[in-house]
Amino acid sequence: MSVITRDVVVVGAGPSGLTAAAELRKAGLSVAVLEARDRVGGRTWTGDIDGAMIEIGGQWLSPHHTAALELVAELGLETFSRYRDGRSVYLAADGVRHEFTGDVFPAPEATAKEIDRLLALLDELAAEVGAEEPWTHPNAEELDAIPFSIWLERQSDDEYARETVSFYVSGAMLTKPAHTFSTLQALQMAAAQSSFTALATDTFMLDKRVIGGMQQVSQRLAAGLGDDLHLNSPVRRIEWSDAGVTVFADGELRVRAERVVLAVPPNLYSTISFDPPMPRRRHQMYQHMSFGFVVKVHAVYSTPFWRAKGLSGTGFSDTDFVSEIYDNTNHGMDNGALVGFIAGAQADAVFEMSPEDRRRAILACLVKYLGPEAANPEVYYESDWGAEEWTRGAYGVSFDLGGLTRYGRDHREPLGPIHFACSDLAGHGFQHVDGAVRMGKRAAAAIVSQRTLV
Ligand code: FDA
Repeated sequence: MSVITRDVVVVGAGPSGLTAAAELRKAGLSVAVLEARDRVGGRTWTGDIDGAMIEIGGQWLSPHHTAALELVAELGLETFSRYRDGRSVYLAADGVRHEFTGDVFPAPEATAKEIDRLLALLDELAAEVGAEEPWTHPNAEELDAIPFSIWLERQSDDEYARETVSFYVSGAMLTKPAHTFSTLQALQMAAAQSSFTALATDTFMLDKRVIGGMQQVSQRLAAGLGDDLHLNSPVRRIEWSDAGVTVFADGELRVRAERVVLAVPPNLYSTISFDPPMPRRRHQMYQHMSFGFVVKVHAVYSTPFWRAKGLSGTGFSDTDFVSEIYDNTNHGMDNGALVGFIAGAQADAVFEMSPEDRRRAILACLVKYLGPEAANPEVYYESDWGAEEWTRGAYGVSFDLGGLTRYGRDHREPLGPIHFACSDLAGHGFQHVDGAVRMGKRAAAAIVSQRTLV
């Protein structure tokens, strides 16, 4: 049995927990970090798959992600822009393949106008609702009681316009079907990324990548921790009282501290046993926060063959199950990499297939977008975060219908000596690395200020 005493113990070595640890150490506190996996980074994971560097998890930064961008620069890391020259591809529901430029999918003029009208309305509402406390909006209860799909049906009878606008937040962000989350949740997600139009603008949301990979953010934050970083140490139990906490991890590791920062996604709180148990409202609240699901597919080729055809590698489809693709070639490489996404119910469906059939079907979809050369990648990989014990979905956790107004005001609040940090609790940068950094800083600042007051 190894017993350690520190000022603060952080559970989870993703970007949020490691930001909190770094901030606490800057303030002169001693910190131990306990991580379940054999690596840091959480949902950011830069892997080597058959010799190719693959961003298995989070990778892109938008200009709105100022906290993450500042941290990247502070850590001495550099960013590069995603390749986006040339025409994008849109696979329409009628089976027709369109090539287009600009951010809006090709559509009949009336539908294009309707999409613009809906985006303008959603931008206005998202600005009113805001990212931080959407439950305070005067119509919050009403907006939180309406599934986003139904709200769209009430706004427009143009099905194509509805599907397009729905996709920006449903398939591309929350990765849940649009009937499972509220309009308030959709608006909060939009406000958290600056506007609804931002969600519809891939050149904004998917702007920059970190040279060498996003996981380096966590690796560099962890570098100073030395023996205070405990990998392969899943936390199983937390005893807590006003006097502090004792945290029990595998490997007979026990850490006593004044405070704990729980920096794991909220769907995993219930995997830890709390003594005394969390209060009733917490037990209830966390059952209404659930992961979406998306499969991230990687295909690496000897050349970026699409560029020679004047294509950017960007593509979208309403009906084919690979609903988005992008050029994901690493910085300075002359090979070509594509990344594609299969979200929500379609992600469930592809995992009903055998691995061979799934690969064949996914590559057939890439062929539709970019041509026959897409059929035979040198490296092929599917990021399946749903199968990861210490995550259980992708990209992030959001409230089910009605949850934001019922529980939102309490979901970031500390519970005695227990503080919470995770991108899925963030306002600004919600579900993104930026939100993880902000929440890590917030938890550290709260602990430092409480100690100053004592
Ligand atoms: P995160 O989940 O990263 O870290 C939590 C840590 O806690 C993990 O290391 C986990 O192992 C650990 N843990 C869990 N239970 C534990 C226990 N009981 N004991 C000890 N440790 C425990 N974001 C973005 O900004 N741009 C992007 O392009 C993308 N794209 C993207 C793609 C995919 C496929 C995914 C899955 C996610 C993204 N994201 C993203 C989201 C981004 O990766 C995510 O928001 C951050 O990694 C969240 O960081 P946190 O530290 O909050 O949680």
